[in-house]
Amino acid sequence: MTQAQTTHHDHDGHHWKEPDRVRDYVDRKDREAVQRNEVFRLLTALVPEARTAPLRVLDIGCGYGPLATVVLDEFPQATAVGLDLSEAMIQIGSPRMARFGDRFRYLIADIGSGLLPDELAGPLDLVVSSLAVHHLRPEQGARLYRSIYQRLTPGGCFFNIDHMGAGDDYLQERYTQARECLEHPGGAESGEPPAPAPHNHERGSVAVHLEWLRSAGFQPVDCFWKRLNEALVGGFKLA
Ligand SMILES: C[S@@+](CC[C@H](N)C(=O)[O-])C[C@H]1O[C@@H](n2cnc3c(N)ncnc32)[C@H](O)[C@@H]1O
Repeated sequence: MTQAQTTHHDHDGHHWKEPDRVRDYVDRKDREAVQRNEVFRLLTALVPEARTAPLRVLDIGCGYGPLATVVLDEFPQATAVGLDLSEAMIQIGSPRMARFGDRFRYLIADIGSGLLPDELAGPLDLVVSSLAVHHLRPEQGARLYRSIYQRLTPGGCFFNIDHMGAGDDYLQERYTQARECLEHPGGAESGEPPAPAPHNHERGSVAVHLEWLRSAGFQPVDCFWKRLNEALVGGFKLA
């Protein structure tokens, strides 16, 4: 495979079909579960509906289900669809999500075009996503935000936790440096300059995501949490 093909393949998220990559990812994320769950709970705390509401939820790029798990635990009457293209992720996620019974189901679909699949019947009250939308090209990301807005019921909301570009080369260098310092407190073993996170130059910044949200119709919108290249953005579709 050529470099160009690899990049295209990775960018559309299809590399998540590789079982070894998925196992490594889930092991790593399981070790970060405490910190991740704090951000997931911040997300659920922002949802305006009562905790007893029978919310219809969509988790885009649901993977093994870490975000859907927190949403379903916080909203015990909610039901969720976990959309993903990776059978390998779904294989790891299915036993983990089994305790929710009929309240959770996977939908295998590809959102690379920026459109939500037609099989996703009915309106949605809450759409969430974690670390998935950055796999889309910018036009498709903006289009996905529009598709989500159209599927949301009035009063609904959308939250996306994702890798985002710094929006500035100097800032991006500092973010990369900070990540390296925090991950290797004694100094990098190789002495090599740290590798930038992939695709950072192409990723939309928080400002870009907020603009996509506004253009889609969301109002108000905000960035609710941010740490270096990771941020939680979202918006409301007021009734
Ligand atoms: C980094 S993992 C994140 C999984 C989970 N949401 C989490 O926070 O740990 C990205 C997920 O997005 C899914 N994904 C990537 N591109 C996709 C696409 N075009 N359509 C559907 N799912 C996609 C992958 O299969 C993978 O499960």
